[in-house]
Amino acid sequence: MNRINFVKTIALVSVLSFTALTTMCGQTTNSKTNTMENLSLTEFPALPYAYDALEPYIDARTMEIHYDRHHRAYFNNFVAAIKGTSYEKMPVEQTFAEISRAGDAIRNNGGGYYNHVLFWKILGKGSSGPSAELSAAIDKAFGSFDKFRESFSTAAKTRFGSGWAWLVVTPEKTLAVGSTPNQDNPLMDVSPVKGTPILTIDVWEHAYYLKYQNKRPDYVEAFWNVVNWDVVNQLYREAVK
Ligand SMILES: [Fe+2]
Repeated sequence: MNRINFVKTIALVSVLSFTALTTMCGQTTNSKTNTMENLSLTEFPALPYAYDALEPYIDARTMEIHYDRHHRAYFNNFVAAIKGTSYEKMPVEQTFAEISRAGDAIRNNGGGYYNHVLFWKILGKGSSGPSAELSAAIDKAFGSFDKFRESFSTAAKTRFGSGWAWLVVTPEKTLAVGSTPNQDNPLMDVSPVKGTPILTIDVWEHAYYLKYQNKRPDYVEAFWNVVNWDVVNQLYREAVK
């Protein structure tokens, strides 16, 4: 190889490397755009709709108290708990992966903060339903959509005391349903069900007591009318990438 060809080769390799690098960086940035990985540790996120947006299935007064008091308290207490610790700058996914070492204040309030942001995100009216890809994955994992719905609803109805039910994309990229106590979630190292959450329901009494009193099963059935499948489909696409 003469000197000119050598210089051209080096230049070409440099351009290709730079292009590959910027593409990779672009994909990384884009892949995080709509996930929970951008969760702010400094600013309490706005509710993405009005308090009455989910009426009559979830009433406005419940939404107001749930978001503005319960959720806000989790956020404030989480920010206070991580202040001055190594968790202050850490993405919450990483914090959750080692939550068994982080202490109860970070576990309970960090979970409470994250879980509610996801819950608000997957609620909404007027979406069309599971995408073709998600439907195929649901059929493969559960046999049919009805069986999946029954499994998820049972997990929600039978969670003893306070907690959450989940649909997750497992590390093997399959779907699984489970539930967690208190404010735990499937990103936590302590969770019995592990994976990336794409659908969830809050079964703490504060989520339904004003309208449904002790009838948690009625609230769980009503929940299916306000699942925002467009968001769930998007979270599924991102989780299986
Ligand atoms: Fe809640």
